[in-house]
Amino acid sequence: MSQLQFSQVLPLSLYIHYPWCIQKCPYCDFNSHTLKQTLDEQAYLDAMVRQLEQTLPLIWGRPIRSIFFGGGTPSLISQSGLEWLLSQLRALLNFSPQIEITLEANPGTVDFEKFAGFRNAGINRLSMGIQSFADDKLTALGRIHSAAEAKLAIQAAKDAGFDNFNLDLMFALPNQTLEQAQADVTQALEFAPPHLSHYQLTLEPNTPFFKQPPQLPDDDLAWDMQESCQQIIAKAGYQHYEVSAYAQPDHHCQHNLNYWTFGDYLGLGAGAHGKITIAPEGRVLRTQMPASPGGYVEAAQNGKFGRSHEVDAEELMFEFMLNALRLQNGFALNLFEQHTGLALSTITQRLEQLQQQDLIALQEGMLTLTRRGQVYLNDVVSAFLRS
Ligand SMILES: C[S@@+](CC[C@H](N)C(=O)[O-])C[C@H]1O[C@@H](n2cnc3c(N)ncnc32)[C@H](O)[C@@H]1O
Ligand code: SF4
Repeated sequence: MSQLQFSQVLPLSLYIHYPWCIQKCPYCDFNSHTLKQTLDEQAYLDAMVRQLEQTLPLIWGRPIRSIFFGGGTPSLISQSGLEWLLSQLRALLNFSPQIEITLEANPGTVDFEKFAGFRNAGINRLSMGIQSFADDKLTALGRIHSAAEAKLAIQAAKDAGFDNFNLDLMFALPNQTLEQAQADVTQALEFAPPHLSHYQLTLEPNTPFFKQPPQLPDDDLAWDMQESCQQIIAKAGYQHYEVSAYAQPDHHCQHNLNYWTFGDYLGLGAGAHGKITIAPEGRVLRTQMPASPGGYVEAAQNGKFGRSHEVDAEELMFEFMLNALRLQNGFALNLFEQHTGLALSTITQRLEQLQQQDLIALQEGMLTLTRRGQVYLNDVVSAFLRS
């Protein structure tokens, strides 16, 4: 008999992966490919609907809280394709009334008409990959858009009626100074985005930047950029609620919050991951689709989808912590029991040790990282690795 016990049904989100971009950026290790003329979009959309149909018995009737079209560059999906896909999703799934539906957009692929079309199709939140407002940095990053085009895209999104949107910025860019990093944040805030993501540029294996690294700010300068930008963003009234995420009150990203609180999600599309809790049976399944778009479509046509495996207790404990410890205001300990199905006693000893090391604080049923714990976050997470 399983040792996992779930007292309630977990929140459920849907992730949809669109694996193509106009051009591959040299720092990016996402599952994305340069768009070829021969793309059969409908075959890819069909495959995702087939995958969903096959997964339905695992999630019957459960309300969907959020949908996230990620990529790649999902703003390249045709208007008719997006409308068709959303109509299929509505027919097959139970959308909750407050559903958040986000689509990632590259500023070099959009205009007012396109945004208006997205809104008509049912998208109610945008996430725009701005990265920087400096042309030389955009060139160094291999972006397909200029700073002026990025600004026009943000204005077009607002004009099309998007009152809920995120801007992605990166810092510690090639040859970037502290003042330039601050200027990017200040410029972003002038658009009053309801949500801002501020990522440090990382060198990912298997990318051109990793093989031939550009001149990047050293660790001290990168740290100063992060600290001073955090202050600028906080002063503008934003809540810093996850390592890289800032939101105006009531504009936190529901989809990402579901990941960070270890909710369930279906992942449709090439390389997409999913996590589904089958509460009555005390089982948690991880699913993973074939990474290549062609392989994915072929698998769907043969009715043979990717792999799935049952997650064991040790993995659940670690994965929960890996996600939840990203939350800046900590989390209620009973969330651990609710979302892993494990008893709190499984981790009591480790929690006590971390508390003694002044890495976490436990108060009124909440776990928060201490200042020291924030600096040594990796050590805190590692404490929950398989022993
Ligand atoms: C899928 S992309 C967003 C949509 C679209 N593909 C684009 O780039 O405009 C997700 C975001 O991840 C961030 N990102 C990608 N690679 C990164 C890296 N190596 N280091 C830090 N952030 C990265 C970027 O801010 C990017 O906007
Ligand atoms: S950063 Fe965005 S646009 Fe650039 S390759 Fe990655 S997914 Fe595509």
